[in-house]
Amino acid sequence: GPLLVAATAGTTDAGLIDPLPAIAARCSAHGARLHIDAAYGGGLLFSDRHRPRLAGLDAAHTVTLDLHKLGWQPAAAGLLAVRDTADLGALHQRADYLNADDDTEAGLPDLLGRSLRTTRRPDILKIAVTLKTLGRTGLGALVDAVCARAQEFAAVIAADRALDLYDTPTLSTVLFRPTGAPDETVARIRRRLLTEGRAVLGRARLDGRLWLKATLLNPHTRPDDLAALLRLVEGHTPA
Ligand SMILES: Cc1ncc(COP(=O)(O)O)c(C=O)c1O
Repeated sequence: GPLLVAATAGTTDAGLIDPLPAIAARCSAHGARLHIDAAYGGGLLFSDRHRPRLAGLDAAHTVTLDLHKLGWQPAAAGLLAVRDTADLGALHQRADYLNADDDTEAGLPDLLGRSLRTTRRPDILKIAVTLKTLGRTGLGALVDAVCARAQEFAAVIAADRALDLYDTPTLSTVLFRPTGAPDETVARIRRRLLTEGRAVLGRARLDGRLWLKATLLNPHTRPDDLAALLRLVEGHTPA
């Protein structure tokens, strides 16, 4: 049987959440470990309204979170959470050139055993400051705002006959394309908006077509800003 299953809560392309309770049940039936990549979707935990959509996350042995998305941190801000602290045993790996027993015994501080990344910046500091400042409620309000903005934006696209909406957003990612445009046109629109310094849109290939991707993460974005973005796209679409 499988040893490890990796599920995703918030895919990079469309922000989709795998059916976590069903996957967790399969894992437990087959004795497989479950890892959940909640880099994007994990931020829903801050929100009372959206947290239930992560049901099943608690069954994971390990979870990754990336607070540069729904956590408003500059990159890098990745976290690995483990249910059983024994899973962090690899951090106790010793190497003579790094670990000087007499220094450790003398109580000299170092990052060994605390970080996977020895000499890198301590990403946890900025995360801790944000959590202390905004709290779960403050972050939850930001999550609610960007998810609501994505729903509104998707509704505007769905009502526009010149645009196709990929689907109602699950998180804050909205995929759309000019109706009937070939992929080359979609790619050209995106590149032109980028090189003209007008808009930075993502892209995703789904269901055999290329889509423009707006991952809404700025809680201060107003519906007007998004309407202006659609006018830019439509203005660059050949008639
Ligand atoms: C689904 C998903 N997992 C993980 C990551 C994080 O990747 P990285 O290892 O580059 O921090 C991302 C994007 O940042 C993502 O969208």
